[in-house]
Amino acid sequence: MELSSRPRRNRSLKNLREGIKEVDLNASSFIQPLFVSENTEPIKAMPGVQKYSLDDLKKFCIKTLSKSKICGVLLFASIDKELKTKKGDEALNPEGLLPRAIKIVKEHAPHLVVMSDVALDPFSTDGHDGLVENGKILNDESVDLLCMMSLVHAKAGVDFVAPSDMMDGRVKAIRKTLDKNGFSDTGILSYTAKYASFFYGPFREALDSAPGFGDKKTYQMDFRNKTESLRELRADIFEGADMVMVKPALAYLDIIQSFKKESTVPVVAYNVSAEYSMVKLAAQAGLVNEYDIQFEILSSMKRSGADLIVTYSALEMETHLKKNESI
Ligand code: PBG
Repeated sequence: MELSSRPRRNRSLKNLREGIKEVDLNASSFIQPLFVSENTEPIKAMPGVQKYSLDDLKKFCIKTLSKSKICGVLLFASIDKELKTKKGDEALNPEGLLPRAIKIVKEHAPHLVVMSDVALDPFSTDGHDGLVENGKILNDESVDLLCMMSLVHAKAGVDFVAPSDMMDGRVKAIRKTLDKNGFSDTGILSYTAKYASFFYGPFREALDSAPGFGDKKTYQMDFRNKTESLRELRADIFEGADMVMVKPALAYLDIIQSFKKESTVPVVAYNVSAEYSMVKLAAQAGLVNEYDIQFEILSSMKRSGADLIVTYSALEMETHLKKNESI
């Protein structure tokens, strides 16, 4: 055959393939979510993931995190039922699980970027990200609380607060609160395009944070839409977000790609709980090799334009990638 182009030539040698690869997946782009709670316990819905007591978190920092090359951690609190209230008061407790966890990681794995989830759902009896009144999720009143919550985390030394609530105007309000109180160095990683997704199930089981009534569709985005993600992106950048997040990631690669094109700040993808658990369960059933599949999935997120990836498999994949390097 006379062919002017033979693409296979560029695939012919392993070294060549390595040399010209467009995506170089490595631990420095990973953020590991961590759950803290009163007691250490496994999370059934997410094989291999657990909640850490503060003592065990400290041990984990010393033994594992201090040596890891991942970018950072994203902290979530799983509080006891008795501590949950209508207004999520525990979210503002300076001695609560999250502020204490922030201090522990900053002390024992100081090289890591520490991020914290800012939303009311794990703290409120309603299981919604904002304040609820007569079945409605209040915007502005919720933003006030999220500002106070952000300040509590900033005082504990967090590097980035990560508002995951999707209330309007919260990035601007949080930025103003942080600046006014002397925390102009504390960053904001905004959950910018957070969809009302069915992929959060295992996470909600872990935190016992499923909405008590209704769903989250009046604040999280409709997954049939793309255009409004750009509206959210523009607003968040204008309001002062330091990084913008797309969540979930796997079924939203088109959103990640358009964010990368439009955004002037780094783009973060959240490889969420059901994306993680589906791979784990398929691997347990012997259908796939979990590392191979996860490598491919995370590579697709990078290829789409994610600068950082929040993934429950961050540390596991770091170990796996290291092992493969030495082969
Ligand atoms: C809520 C929050 C959720 C997740 C992160 N922050 C769940 C939700 O919005 O209901 C989901 C993460 C995951 O599924 O891994 N503020």
